[in-house]
Amino acid sequence: MARIREKNIIKSNLSSSLKNGDVIISIKDLEVQFSVRQHLLTAIRNVSLDIYKGETLAIVGESGSGKSVFTKCLVGMLDQNGSVTNGSIDYNGVDLAKFKNNIEWRQIRGKRISMIFQDPMTSLNPLRRIGSQITEVIRLHRGMNKAEAKKEAIKLLERVGINDAEQRFRDYPFQYSGGMRQRVVIAIALACAPDILICDEPTTALDVTIQAQILALINELKEEYGFTVIFITHDLGVVAEIAERVAVMYAGQIVEIGTANDIYYDPRHPYTWALLSSLPQLGQKGENLYSIAGTPPSLFDKVVGDAFAPRNLHAMKIDFVKEPPMFKISDTHFAKTWLLDPRAPKTERPEIVGQISERVAKIYSGGSK
Ligand SMILES: Nc1ncnc2c1ncn2[C@@H]1O[C@H](COP(=O)(O)OP(=O)(O)O)[C@@H](O)[C@H]1O
Ligand SMILES: [Mg+2]
Repeated sequence: MARIREKNIIKSNLSSSLKNGDVIISIKDLEVQFSVRQHLLTAIRNVSLDIYKGETLAIVGESGSGKSVFTKCLVGMLDQNGSVTNGSIDYNGVDLAKFKNNIEWRQIRGKRISMIFQDPMTSLNPLRRIGSQITEVIRLHRGMNKAEAKKEAIKLLERVGINDAEQRFRDYPFQYSGGMRQRVVIAIALACAPDILICDEPTTALDVTIQAQILALINELKEEYGFTVIFITHDLGVVAEIAERVAVMYAGQIVEIGTANDIYYDPRHPYTWALLSSLPQLGQKGENLYSIAGTPPSLFDKVVGDAFAPRNLHAMKIDFVKEPPMFKISDTHFAKTWLLDPRAPKTERPEIVGQISERVAKIYSGGSK
């Protein structure tokens, strides 16, 4: 783990590799709406994002910011009352936003792009043995016979860290712990050798030790299999363990994106400041944490100006009138705040944010906790 931490947080300077990297999936101007009792809720508001082959991208933001909805669009798993109402999702020259039915999605979901969830039981059938659930996927996607598939399933179970895999193969999900079930779900995802693995808060329900083990496993498998990881979390602490690049979401938009170093050491959006400052791991005894007052806007109404303005201590007049563009800070780093406009008054970020880099480095290099 120490090795992974050091690599990610201290050395994650991806600028050159990202610029030359291949884009594996390109999302442009994505809009998603849900219909709720005759009213429309706009959950994703014009999000554009290129994801690079082989990277680990974290998506962070408060609950309700749109992280799950956004990534469900990449696997065609939006709830019935929702749809992509604008934009495109280019994957290998195919626009996934145009997919209409499950027949089309079957070529992609679980095969090329897999998604795992906070609750492993979302993906497991409680009434069937673990072994048959894995072999089914292997046979379906890899055309192996029963005996071959069993062998492969046991190999995968061993690979994700299930002891006595041959015995446990016959167990039911309830005989596994939460962490072990999550490992099984990862094994099923691996069975199809996906290009992209989307992890939607896969460790949120697990205790800290198990969480660290699952993160380490995802990191190892990523290196070994070479897939791209999109990792969703509301916890910026987890991000330092896993991500090379971080996208911060607020009210259905990406408001800041950069390498992990950009986000931890040089955050520019006041929302990112607030998120960082409210990290409990980073607070010191006797110090008031800078908490985020107020609530996000209702997505049933059209958002005017910057959605974060009412909660932003540094908001200016224009924030209440006009939506800010994505300002470029460097080749890897962008933020959507009027504070970056050359005409904006110089605003110092809160002092506590300046101290965060030191604290993150201390915590994640295995120093003081
Ligand atoms: N089926 C649905 N119907 C109506 N609104 C939904 C539905 N699913 C999600 N939403 C809304 O979309 C927004 C984003 O939700 P979500 O992506 O789940 O947030 P996050 O994963 O960041 O916690 C929220 O306002 C949520 O209430
Ligand atoms: Mg979610």
